[in-house]
Amino acid sequence: MSFWPTTEHWSVAIPRESDHYRMPILAETGFVAMSPLPFEISPEEWEQLEYMDWKSGGDTNFAPIASADGQLDCRGFWDKGKCDKDALWTPNADKAPSLRDYVAGVGANFGRVRIIKLEPQDHETALRSIHRDDNNRFNPEGTGWVVRNWIELTDDPDSYMLLMDSLPDGTPDPATEMRVPLPQWSRFTVDTQRLWHVVVHNHDHPRYALITSFESGPVLEGWIESQLPVRV
Ligand SMILES: [Fe+2]
Repeated sequence: MSFWPTTEHWSVAIPRESDHYRMPILAETGFVAMSPLPFEISPEEWEQLEYMDWKSGGDTNFAPIASADGQLDCRGFWDKGKCDKDALWTPNADKAPSLRDYVAGVGANFGRVRIIKLEPQDHETALRSIHRDDNNRFNPEGTGWVVRNWIELTDDPDSYMLLMDSLPDGTPDPATEMRVPLPQWSRFTVDTQRLWHVVVHNHDHPRYALITSFESGPVLEGWIESQLPVRV
């Protein structure tokens, strides 16, 4: 029998309702795919950074590019009395200038910016790490709900991000399952406090991706709309 979260899972206690501003573009599913990154980035920008041992969603390491105080620190911003906004660049940012400029160029308020390095894990193993994020702790109600944006840096077409909405009791609803494939340069935005999520990584190399916390608002939504796949 595979692992499945119960109402005792720590994620169930994380709020799903609040008076934060939420973007209409994420209202239906909590997920939106953008077009692939329109330029390439040298692997040096993610391979030569300083990684920290930090486990989230499997066997992972993280390289902070922006953090609560500019230190190389993976802890939640709330440990420093901050919500996940108004981040400062870490020393890694100088080694990843195109990633830094990409995030800054969005124009929206951003919180933590990190590269995730994830070791391979199959579906059953990944499911044990499925969770919802606590992105909005200390975030003042009435301001924008924090969501997350991804760029897939390695080419992992056989891997996917598993996403699920919740049942009324807070546990994942299998009827809402989405599988987002992870080829190189794919980009998407997820309300990771709303959706249960984890990555199934079916390749024999580590998966690298850029993950950025952004504040929801007209600036972010306008940027997402400008990056949507072109329909032909
Ligand atoms: Fe997460």
